[in-house]
Amino acid sequence: MNRLAPSILSADFSRLIDDIAAIEDAGAQAIHIDVMDGNFVPNISFGSRVMKSLLGKTRLPFDVHLMVADPDRYIKDFVTDNTEIITVHQEACIHLHRTLQSIKSFGIKAGVSLNPSTSPLTLEYIFEELDYLLIMSVNPGFGGQKFIPSALDKIKAVSDMKRRRNPDMIIAVDGGITLENVRQVTEAGANLIIAGSSVFDSPDVGGQVKKFLALVSD
Ligand code: DX5
Ligand code: ZN
Repeated sequence: MNRLAPSILSADFSRLIDDIAAIEDAGAQAIHIDVMDGNFVPNISFGSRVMKSLLGKTRLPFDVHLMVADPDRYIKDFVTDNTEIITVHQEACIHLHRTLQSIKSFGIKAGVSLNPSTSPLTLEYIFEELDYLLIMSVNPGFGGQKFIPSALDKIKAVSDMKRRRNPDMIIAVDGGITLENVRQVTEAGANLIIAGSSVFDSPDVGGQVKKFLALVSD
C-alpha cells in the first residue's frame, strides 16, 4: 500500500500540533521530519527537541530525514518510540555501511537519500542493506521547489533494482510533489510520498491530505 508522509517543514510552527492533528485525522500515515544543519544544506530547520515535543501527542510514526553533515553524531538523538525510519544522505556518509548498521542497531529502519545528481549505482554494493531509499526530486534545503523531472527515470531504475534485489525496500520520493504529478511518481514505483508545501500551504490541510490519499491509494 502506498503511504503519504507530509513534511512538517512547511507546517505552521506556532501551531504545529494542530497541523499534525489535521493530517492525522485526515488519514496521513507518517510525519516526515526534515532536519537541516546549515552545512550539508544551505538552510537550518529544527533539531530533535522539536520532534520529541510531539511524543505522546500523535500516534503517527516519524520518518526522519537527516540533511546534516556527519549524521553519525546525531542518530541516537532521533531514536524515540515513534521513530520508524532514519534516513541519511549518501553524499554525507564516508562509511555508509557502518552508519546503516548503527541505525539498525536501535531497531529502526535504515534509509539512504540520494540528491538529484547522485546515481543509484553508488548504492550497488549496499543495496540489500537498505530498508528505505529516498529519492530527492529537488535539491535538498528548502520546501516549495519545483519537481525535477529526471527523478522519474531514477525512481523507475531503483524500482527495477528493488524488484530483483530487495522487494521489501520502501521507495520514497521527496520534493515538489503536487496533486498534479503524484500519480506519475507512484506509477514510476514510489510507495511513500512526501509532500510539504502542497499539504501545509493550503487553508484546508486535512482536505489536501484526503485528496492526496485518493490519488496514491492502490
Ligand atoms: C527538502 C525537504 C523536503 C521538503 C519537501 O529539502 O527534504 O522534505 O520539505 O517540501 P515540498 O513538498 O514543498 O517540496
Ligand atoms: Zn525531506
